[in-house]
Amino acid sequence: MRRKLAAGNWKMNGTLADLGELDSLAETHPTPGVDILVCPPATLISAAAARAGKGPIQIGGQDCHHADQGALTGDVSALMLADAGAHAVILGHSERREGHGETSEEVRAKAKTAQAASLMTVICLGESLGQREATNTLDIIGAQLSLSVPDSSNGENLVIAYEPIWAIGSGLTPSPDQIGEVHDFIRARLEKRFGAGVGRSVRLLYGGSVKPDNAAEIFAVSNVDGALVGGASLRAADFSPIITALESA
Ligand code: 13P
Repeated sequence: MRRKLAAGNWKMNGTLADLGELDSLAETHPTPGVDILVCPPATLISAAAARAGKGPIQIGGQDCHHADQGALTGDVSALMLADAGAHAVILGHSERREGHGETSEEVRAKAKTAQAASLMTVICLGESLGQREATNTLDIIGAQLSLSVPDSSNGENLVIAYEPIWAIGSGLTPSPDQIGEVHDFIRARLEKRFGAGVGRSVRLLYGGSVKPDNAAEIFAVSNVDGALVGGASLRAADFSPIITALESA
């Protein structure tokens, strides 16, 4: 029912010279059994979208402002991302929540505008190590989920990425049971809020140190519909086996 999604977040990495990675991915996966999304830095979106063309890879942004336009130096709007060829945008990544003081309310405002601009929103949630050790992971995730997700969401325009902050870029991953507990919880919450039909159609990604060698184990977990991959999405040689693992999950 839910088409799986392999999403790459290049973060602040990549210049024009790196777009050849998209060609390699498209050559290796000409008719993929899963959706493939690559989110390069904003400077590369136009060129990446042109390069990806009508092929198997879609392009997304990593953030947007909640306004459509205005005197907002340095910001980029959802309309601008869509105009540049983006199909999606990552919102509420922990690197923005922590590094830029973004609140869940702001994430919701951004998501609302992005969905109105016909972008698919990939909304990120995740607990810190301290929060997990204090065993209130589900409280944190539940609060982030209810505050960050706008009412305009549905199975087409919303994807949730569960990214434990302590797993990002650390080489650490939660156990399959820990991932499953959070994903099952998110699924139940979405079904309660949006009804079973919509709640079951939203894709749930896991993110945080997903690599070719741990991808299959993670993709076998219940309610894991794909991954949001950071470091291992930068090179087709690393991202491609993750896509293949998802295709056979
Ligand atoms: P890593 O895969 O590098 O741990 O990053 C995960 C992430 O933050 C994706 O958004």
